[in-house]
Amino acid sequence: MKVAVFGRSGELGRVLQRTLSARHEVVPQASHFDVRHRETVFSAVRAANADVVVNAAAMSNVDRCEHDAEAFSVNALGPRWLAQACEASGTLLVQMSTDHVFSGEKGSPYHEWDAVGPIQDYGRSKLAGEREVRAHAPRHLIVRTSWLYGGSSSDFPQVVLGRARRNMPQRVVDDHAGSPTCVDDLAEALLQLLEAGAMGTVHVANPGTASPYAFAQEIVSSAGLKAPVRVQTGAPLIGSAPRPKNSSLTSLVLPSYGVVMRPWREALRHYLHKVAAEGM
Ligand SMILES: NC(=O)c1ccc[n+]([C@@H]2O[C@H](COP(=O)([O-])OP(=O)(O)OC[C@H]3O[C@@H](n4cnc5c(N)ncnc54)[C@H](OP(=O)(O)O)[C@@H]3O)[C@@H](O)[C@H]2O)c1
Repeated sequence: MKVAVFGRSGELGRVLQRTLSARHEVVPQASHFDVRHRETVFSAVRAANADVVVNAAAMSNVDRCEHDAEAFSVNALGPRWLAQACEASGTLLVQMSTDHVFSGEKGSPYHEWDAVGPIQDYGRSKLAGEREVRAHAPRHLIVRTSWLYGGSSSDFPQVVLGRARRNMPQRVVDDHAGSPTCVDDLAEALLQLLEAGAMGTVHVANPGTASPYAFAQEIVSSAGLKAPVRVQTGAPLIGSAPRPKNSSLTSLVLPSYGVVMRPWREALRHYLHKVAAEGM
């Protein structure tokens, strides 16, 4: 299979390229690729001449997206051009999406057929991107995931670990929750889905639910450290966008493809071992 990854410098893009290239040909993204520009996108898809295009390019900073129309240019208009270009060249389009398309009010993990209802511009723009892909590229795979870590040395677990090792006090919010997902597990699952010929919408996350506070506590205790982690109270920071209360994900689709995601605590423990072994 020949795969092109757009958004290759991002947290997910880097790991996807590494994972996919172990078994398939991964073509480099064209330089100066800007997903907002129709002609650039069409010529990049043509030049890639791939069987599959993975769109991991996004404006992904939730707070920066709020009240910024640029979020829609990158997260919705870009997927429109990619979908049209992929449809014209017979390429499967994999569009990465997010748990933030949900309101967070369900009270239990969301499956693929739960009603969407984003509460901030990041979620609204990503949902618009999903709709563009469904409308313009019948051959698509939309992968919703949640709260990624493991793609950089400054990810949440490593920041928390660094502070805990220096015995620094930490205060972490407990007012929202998701499914912390190891980016290596996501990449491996995507590889399996592609090899199985999956299409449609699928949720890929390590199962379970955690708030940032619960996640931080688990990181510190799994690493065998004793540094205190406390709940951050008080009003949200000025300028921060609202977060869905509980946007954790589950999947009714993955079992059909034989893809098994391990629970988030197990994935975290494995990641922490890797960090310790590799000195990341
Ligand atoms: N990180 C998470 O916790 C999380 C959770 C759920 C879903 N997702 C989804 O997963 C996907 C990947 O996220 P990520 O965390 O890897 O994001 P990221 O680290 O912010 O990377 C985003 C990538 O998009 C590129 N990009 C931004 N604007 C662009 C534009 N106009 N044209 C072309 N490329 C552009 C960036 O390139 P430059 O660096 O050169 O700008 C970068 O390579 C996104 O669809 C995101 O919505 C992420």
